[in-house]
Amino acid sequence: MSISLTRYLVEEQRAKGHIPPELRLLLEVVARACKSISHAVNKGALGGVLGSAHTENIQGEVQKKLDIIANDVLIEANEWGGHLAAMASEEMDDIYSVPNRYPQGEYLLLFDPLDGSSNIDVNVSIGTIFSVLKKTSSSTLVSKEDFLQQGSQQVAAGYCVYGPQTTLVLTVGDGVAMFTLDSEQGSFILTQDHVQIPLETQEFAINMSNMRHWDKPVKQYIDECLLGKEGPRAKDFNMRWIASMVADVHRILTRGGVFMYPWDKREPLKPGKLRLMYEANPMSWIVEQAGGASTNGKMRILDIKPKELHERVSVILGSKTEVERITNYHLESQSI
Ligand code: AHG
Ligand code: MN
Ligand code: MN
Repeated sequence: MSISLTRYLVEEQRAKGHIPPELRLLLEVVARACKSISHAVNKGALGGVLGSAHTENIQGEVQKKLDIIANDVLIEANEWGGHLAAMASEEMDDIYSVPNRYPQGEYLLLFDPLDGSSNIDVNVSIGTIFSVLKKTSSSTLVSKEDFLQQGSQQVAAGYCVYGPQTTLVLTVGDGVAMFTLDSEQGSFILTQDHVQIPLETQEFAINMSNMRHWDKPVKQYIDECLLGKEGPRAKDFNMRWIASMVADVHRILTRGGVFMYPWDKREPLKPGKLRLMYEANPMSWIVEQAGGASTNGKMRILDIKPKELHERVSVILGSKTEVERITNYHLESQSI
């Protein structure tokens, strides 16, 4: 018997009461948008979706056509349903309040519409990341401040990976479930529930070309992995780097591992490359819900109080014992 996303959400609500109808609508609409993005991704050159849009986002990154297409798909799908107050995205400088012609709901949706943009044109896995918060102020005017909540306040988080299969991964705070898109039926079908990341790993993901810019604790950890059987870890390690956080995290949820995009000396004033609100927070919650851990080296990412919508953060996440080891290296280097 196959369980669709809709059935999963209805039955979760019936059993535990943590997915009210408006949240279910929101999650189904996001899933529908992901289906549509998946369709555009699959068409590739035939759909004219590859290449640069020749515009820049607020982070100074050149936008790809698909960054903009995916952003538009998510906005158009979500603005009319009455479940949202506002949205925020990597590809929009400011928040997007639901237009007055539509009813306003109480949820806030944040997304990285297209993660791993550098992979689009080379036909390698990419994804969409999303995070859902609840508006706490009673004012009908939504402001950026409404969004500046800790990751621990999220009510739902997920990502969709567009790879050999299109897979939607979701948490509403009760474990992690994976749904595979059945393109013939056009629906997401539950293919794994209660996902658990193995505690230990022999695989790490980091962009090694930045090695000379790393801080001491990160360098120490990777040096020890590279020494393999002959080193202090007494085992060989393997390395993967897909350059799409979605795809790297998906591998870690599937077979374990540790993912790092740490602070480095290239731009010392920036806390890191990845964005807190729509990349690190949703991924950190998913990883924790699957028994893993996530830190910026100094504190749990989900406890960081954001100051900016597009705030950046250093990210170390994955198998718990490895993340704890890297955290200890950070603590030791602070005490010197
Ligand atoms: P985005 O495409 O949304 O800007 O995100 C890309 C991010 C992340 O997904 C990935 O892990 C990292 O950037 C890759 O960075 P490098 O190219 O520096 O390796
Ligand atoms: Mn991204
Ligand atoms: Mn992106």
